[in-house]
Amino acid sequence: MLVDRAFVPPELVDDGERDGWPWSVPCVKELLGDGIAFEAPVTFLVGENGSGKSTVVEAVAEAFGLDGRGGRAGRKYANDRPQSPLGSALRLDLTSAGSRMMTGSRTRKKGYFLRAETAFGLMETVWGLPGYWDENTSEMSHGEGFLTVFEAMFRHPGLYVMDEPEAALSFASCLRLVSLMHRLGRTGAQVICATHSPVLASTPGARILEVGEHGIQPVEWSELLLVDHWRRYMSDPEAYLRHLIPKDERG
Ligand SMILES: Nc1ncnc2c1ncn2[C@@H]1O[C@H](COP(=O)(O)OP(=O)(O)O)[C@@H](O)[C@H]1O
Ligand SMILES: [Mg+2]
Repeated sequence: MLVDRAFVPPELVDDGERDGWPWSVPCVKELLGDGIAFEAPVTFLVGENGSGKSTVVEAVAEAFGLDGRGGRAGRKYANDRPQSPLGSALRLDLTSAGSRMMTGSRTRKKGYFLRAETAFGLMETVWGLPGYWDENTSEMSHGEGFLTVFEAMFRHPGLYVMDEPEAALSFASCLRLVSLMHRLGRTGAQVICATHSPVLASTPGARILEVGEHGIQPVEWSELLLVDHWRRYMSDPEAYLRHLIPKDERG
């Protein structure tokens, strides 16, 4: 593990600012003070659209110095994008391995920020650059390209921050990502991942934090609303569809 905790010192945010974005988002407000503890090498953030997952994972990536455009650590131009308000206020408590990585040279910093919406463009741009991957990902399908990136980049004990990496992946590819994330967690790396995927969230040993109106709270996989909805939908789609599409239009 590299990062034990992420928090914002309350004195950095004036009372007057707290009603505005991003502090108005409940899970962001909860970072003021003690913040969130990362108690396992693999952490998932789950929650509805708009609950603040991307805001939080992007800020963690920025605070660790991962490429805020969605990319790997230690790049020369990693920080040419302006920091987000949360990213510039967020502080990380590092483990001793994390401190060594942060205080070492730029090239010692390992990790990757996979931003869902920019990942594919990034793969095409950096294909063939030294230290990236050898295969031409632009000739692969979206999902194959993602897996190539994952498998090539996830070799080091770094910090891997991901925002909904499941978007391009089939069921089988999600399972491969589960095994990759699990292996990373057991080899000194750390994964912090926002997801809507019940498959990814089932990674053995992972800690799941549910974000929402209540803020942030740890929850067991089997207790997740997300898992309950998928289970009920798969066993009886009609139970949901009848509320959405009139009976005479359902064929
Ligand atoms: N740059 C921004 N400026 C103002 N509001 C934003 C910005 N980015 C996101 N938001 C708002 O912050 C909330 C959380 O967004 P986000 O972190 O993207 O949620 P999630 O990833 O969980 O869907 C949403 O209400 C969203 O509209
Ligand atoms: Mg998001």
